Amino acid sequence: MPAKNPPSERVQETPMMRQYRAAKRKHPQALLFFRMGDFYELFFDDAKVAARELGLALTARDKERQVPMAGVPVRAMESYLVRLVRAGHTVAICEQLQDPRECKGIVERDVVRVVSPGTLVEDEALVGSEPLFVLAVDAAAGADFGLAWADLSTGAFRCAAAAPAALAEELARIGPAEIVLADLHEADGAAATHRRLALVRELAAREEIPLTLRPPWTFDARNGARDLCEQLGVATLEPYGVADRPELLAACGALLDYLRDTQKGTLGQIRDLRRHEPARHLILDRATRRTLELVRSQQDGGRDGTLLAVLDRCETPMGSRRLRDWLLEPLVELSAILARQEAVAELFEDHDRSERLRAALDGMGDLERTAGKVAAGRAGARDLVALAAALERVPALVAGLSGCAAGALADLGGRLDPLADLAGRIRATLVEDPPLNLKEGGLVRDGFSSEVDELRALARGGKDYLLALQEREIERTGIPSLKVGFNRVFGYYLEITHAHRERVPEDYVRKQTLKNAERYITPELKEYEAKVLGAEEKVKALEYEIFTELREAAAAETGRLLATAAAAAELDALLALARVAVERRWCRPELCEEPAVLEIEEGRHPVVEAALRDEPFVPNDTRLGPDSRLVVLTGPNMSGKSTWLRQTALIVLLAQMGSFVPADRARIGLADRIFTRLGTGDDISRGQSTFMVEMVETADILRNASERSLLLLDEVGRGTSTFDGLAIAWAVCEYVHDRIGARCLFATHYHQLTDLAAGLERARNQNVAVREWGDEIVFLHRIEEGGTDRSYGIHVARLAGVPPEVLDRAREVLERLERDEEGLSRRILGAAAGAAAAAEPPAEPAPVQPSLFDLLEAADEDLLEELRRTEMDALAPIEAWRLVERIKRALGAP
Ligand SMILES: Nc1ncnc2c1ncn2[C@@H]1O[C@H](COP(=O)(O)OP(=O)(O)OP(=O)(O)O)[C@@H](O)[C@H]1O
Ligand SMILES: [Mg+2]
Repeated sequence: MPAKNPPSERVQETPMMRQYRAAKRKHPQALLFFRMGDFYELFFDDAKVAARELGLALTARDKERQVPMAGVPVRAMESYLVRLVRAGHTVAICEQLQDPRECKGIVERDVVRVVSPGTLVEDEALVGSEPLFVLAVDAAAGADFGLAWADLSTGAFRCAAAAPAALAEELARIGPAEIVLADLHEADGAAATHRRLALVRELAAREEIPLTLRPPWTFDARNGARDLCEQLGVATLEPYGVADRPELLAACGALLDYLRDTQKGTLGQIRDLRRHEPARHLILDRATRRTLELVRSQQDGGRDGTLLAVLDRCETPMGSRRLRDWLLEPLVELSAILARQEAVAELFEDHDRSERLRAALDGMGDLERTAGKVAAGRAGARDLVALAAALERVPALVAGLSGCAAGALADLGGRLDPLADLAGRIRATLVEDPPLNLKEGGLVRDGFSSEVDELRALARGGKDYLLALQEREIERTGIPSLKVGFNRVFGYYLEITHAHRERVPEDYVRKQTLKNAERYITPELKEYEAKVLGAEEKVKALEYEIFTELREAAAAETGRLLATAAAAAELDALLALARVAVERRWCRPELCEEPAVLEIEEGRHPVVEAALRDEPFVPNDTRLGPDSRLVVLTGPNMSGKSTWLRQTALIVLLAQMGSFVPADRARIGLADRIFTRLGTGDDISRGQSTFMVEMVETADILRNASERSLLLLDEVGRGTSTFDGLAIAWAVCEYVHDRIGARCLFATHYHQLTDLAAGLERARNQNVAVREWGDEIVFLHRIEEGGTDRSYGIHVARLAGVPPEVLDRAREVLERLERDEEGLSRRILGAAAGAAAAAEPPAEPAPVQPSLFDLLEAADEDLLEELRRTEMDALAPIEAWRLVERIKRALGAP
């Protein structure tokens, strides 16, 4: 929220206030942190906002004009900054550019950085295992949206084109913390552009991503190309695959422009651009990513209960981020997957090597983010020491990788660079455990610089001298409590309590009177003070200079540092996959290009298995092939239908990210997309009608799935009345089977569908076994061949504590319903089979297959209307029974 400040007032302003206004004018949208000594002060409306958000005391700067003011201490600035930006504000930091002691008049100040949600790279704000992306969208009317995004903490820089229909998916996949968009005036630009901008705004609002509006001219392809060349230090953009894509150039340019504007300093960490090509990745839409709980749980959006939580056995945060990338972008190219899988397999087999590598990575820390900080000039002395410590581990990694057979591992070994010179220089320069504050000395090792050593000796010697002087003066004056003290105003002084006032010698010059003491100076004292203070100040300045030189030397190696960090991160992620595979007894899947194949023996759900404590997880097979592409799975509630569907999806996904899989054996034909439509019961509500959401997602699947896709449909049609639902489920199954030919697992409570599967050539029925034990049922969680004709809903209702009276009545009603319903599916199937037979071969336009509705329509218009209007929730069992009876009659049954 922009904080508006009043226009400058009539009264003559102080020069400082003029300086303040100048800075504020440059960043009107931001809260301005104005450095004044040990505080960052906020004024006017900014002060009110900060006081409200941070609970600070609101004071007044200028009593006369009542300028509201609130201050944040410099030392605690980071946490205040993080809180404000997290609350949705942007903060401009205005620093003193000169040492106040060294300048006459007012110190020079300027904004050195603007911090927004997508550029909040403070250590305190970053989550180690997650990236922080700021993303620019070019929405100029054209075919595709241009997207460019970057993580300032690591220098990751990517771009992608997205068709309008795919934009929501792309944004969800990337998950930016901030979106940068053109602020196009209503009167400018084409109507289409405005519609596209509105779409981006709408998506950002839906995902609650803060928007930053930028001048439209920053989204310009030609300038973008120039800025990109400059940033990447190249003469041509050909190798990056963006040269002929104006939307990508415009987005990259706008992003760079924004980052340069906010970071002020260099963007040295941004050195490479990668174009994301959807065709090279397994596509997971938003619903799938969400319902499979890959990186966020549906329950609370946290990491617990996610696949990532099971996989992430990384030693470093950079490794965790890499693993997360892989998980969200599984591969589709066999060779690329095999390269990774081969590396995991070698680490899986060679336990000793893995242990050695892991030990070398342990404690390496976040080299990638440290390198990013160094490049951006934000690193402290502790960061440089951490950098050296990380680099010192690199030789052990290189050694650990030597002799590896897997190409990917050998390649990593080649990319790891110990930068021994730099590590050595850091160690030689800085003390082991340097202070946080860079300007108070104590950074540089003794023996590194003779100048530092001399100044230190002088400062220390001067102090000794002062102590000796104190002793001497006590003796001379006979005042035992006489002491030498120091304050910033008077420097060194001799303090004597009033009780001994008479004994003060003549040569003492009085400087200050306190309540019960007087302070004096002597010429001798002043002389030494000059020496000591001078030396202390000088050594601090010198140490800071030595430090910044060192930091610049490190920044000059950013390219090598980031390359090394990337290799270490990859190795860490590979080791994590190997480790999970060993610990959880996963197997190496066999991958092939045959689209129909999906054979999993003794598959397990990696997350449910990890969570089960009291009972073992029951493994299950999944067997799909050219002759069996569709499985209709029936089974009671709580039996494990959804679990099996999800585990199958997760196994395919894991296989395509190069991982081992939770199964005894697996052979997997590569998928191009995984679609999931998981039942309303498993869904989180999103304010839309649940049935509507379900149908939108189903429509999307039917339109976009291919023969190579994997479809998991869980209780499609459940969200509406039984007949509507059954009719839709039936038609969807047929469509998938006949037209798409994708591998599909379809879980349903409509056991009528088993008749359908029985009649389809490449479909099969399976069910989840339960055993009845008297009146009880026992869930075996085992998938078996064949259908079921019972749904055990009443049993489950009993387990849930529904009163016996209701259960008895329900049983009665059910019996009658079942009796009357017999033959329903036979009729549907009969009609469909007849039509299908007539259509063989399908040379002519495909005949319309009669649906349940057609059957009814022919029979009775009124009845159909009644069916449509029937609300299942409000339907009493007896009414349901009567309805079915009427339907039967309408269908001509006796
Ligand atoms: N193979 C298995 N081994 C052990 N426990 C399992 C297995 N599959 C499922 N379970 C347990 O059963 C619970 C219910 O499973 P799931 O949600 O898959 O049932 P469902 O058949 O989809 O039920 P509903 O029809 O109500 O949606 C799970 O939370 C899990 O604890
Ligand atoms: Mg379920």
